[in-house]
Amino acid sequence: METIRVCLALVLSLYLLVPSASASSLKVGFYKRTCPDAETIVRNVVGRAVGNNRGIAAGVIRMHFHDCFVRGCDGSVLLDSTPGKPAERQHPANNPSLRGFEVIDEAKAVLESHCPNTVSCADVLAFAARDAAYFTGGFFYELPGGRRDGRVSLESEIQGNLPPPSFNAEQLKENFARKGLSVDEMVTLSGAHSIGVSHCSSFNSRLYGFNSTHQQDPSMDPDLAAFLKSRCPRPRTNDRDDPTVPLDLGTPHHLDIQYYRNLKKGRGLLTSDQTLWSSSRTAKLVAANTKNPHRWQEKYAAAMVHMGSIDVLTGRKGEIRRRCRVVNRH
Ligand code: HEM
Ligand SMILES: *[C@@H]1O[C@H](CO)[C@@H](O)[C@H](O)[C@H]1NC(C)=O
Repeated sequence: METIRVCLALVLSLYLLVPSASASSLKVGFYKRTCPDAETIVRNVVGRAVGNNRGIAAGVIRMHFHDCFVRGCDGSVLLDSTPGKPAERQHPANNPSLRGFEVIDEAKAVLESHCPNTVSCADVLAFAARDAAYFTGGFFYELPGGRRDGRVSLESEIQGNLPPPSFNAEQLKENFARKGLSVDEMVTLSGAHSIGVSHCSSFNSRLYGFNSTHQQDPSMDPDLAAFLKSRCPRPRTNDRDDPTVPLDLGTPHHLDIQYYRNLKKGRGLLTSDQTLWSSSRTAKLVAANTKNPHRWQEKYAAAMVHMGSIDVLTGRKGEIRRRCRVVNRH
């Protein structure tokens, strides 16, 4: 009996990173009574989807970030535009690059057949992002639930809320601070760029005509620049060809600290990545993350729980959408 308990404790301490941050009125195990299989259902759907296409994991993690930074984590990023009212997903920051919508729809459809009108789309997305880290990073964390869905999504609200890839460390710090997140959390969460891809258009300005004295960004490793130029054509007007490149060319499918090691070698893809190493304030945090993979996982888990609590709708606010792409009819 004792050995079993010790083994269990060991396994738990290895795989279950319990973040200390408590998030407003959200609760771990929120659906325990109302829909006991909710989190398992989401995990199974995400696992299958990631098995078919690993990029989906990156897609849902990014989608959750974009949801939380615009009107809070209320599922607003999932809503379709309505006539004359372009939604968040229409904005160039989301369209066409945001991916994984079908996975959220699929999980929601299964949930509706098991326990109708119970699990919010905002929670499905938050759980899916947590599970995506499990399938690509091999670590699990408890994530509180209880978010409810908003009824508004506006393309015009992207600007000023989502940071563009051209931001420097100071601008990123201010942007995250407005969402209640610290510099350390900003650097920690940027580690999500250790999976997934970027379109050339998000970093082309670093490769061609950087400024009047430098053709390319001198903070980028010249070998990386040469490689990227071979993949990304010089931008021309009306050129619709916009290939993608892995954000972390070292271990593109693993959610890990390789991202930070890349930065030390000038191998960050976006300006907003490389700036974390160029700026002395954040360079220390980058360096610390290169040394301690387990500590970074703990910090990532805690920061995701914190990010997942931004401006959430709880209690009687908002609604439980029936379908994630449209608000309920009244
Ligand atoms: C620090 C400010 C950030 C900026 C400026 C930024 C910007 C970007 C850009 C420009 C892309 C590539 C889009 C494309 O061209 O296809 C991208 C991809 C991605 N971002 Fe961020 N991001 C930031 C923070 C975050 C955070 C906090 C997360 C999640 C915790 C995240 C997760 C991702 C993921 C997973 C991808 C890959 C998506 C895919 O492969 O579909 N990013 N980001
Ligand atoms: C071009 O960028 C480099 C590196 O950031 C900088 O040192 C240089 O002063 C810039 N040149 C001009 C003209 O802005």
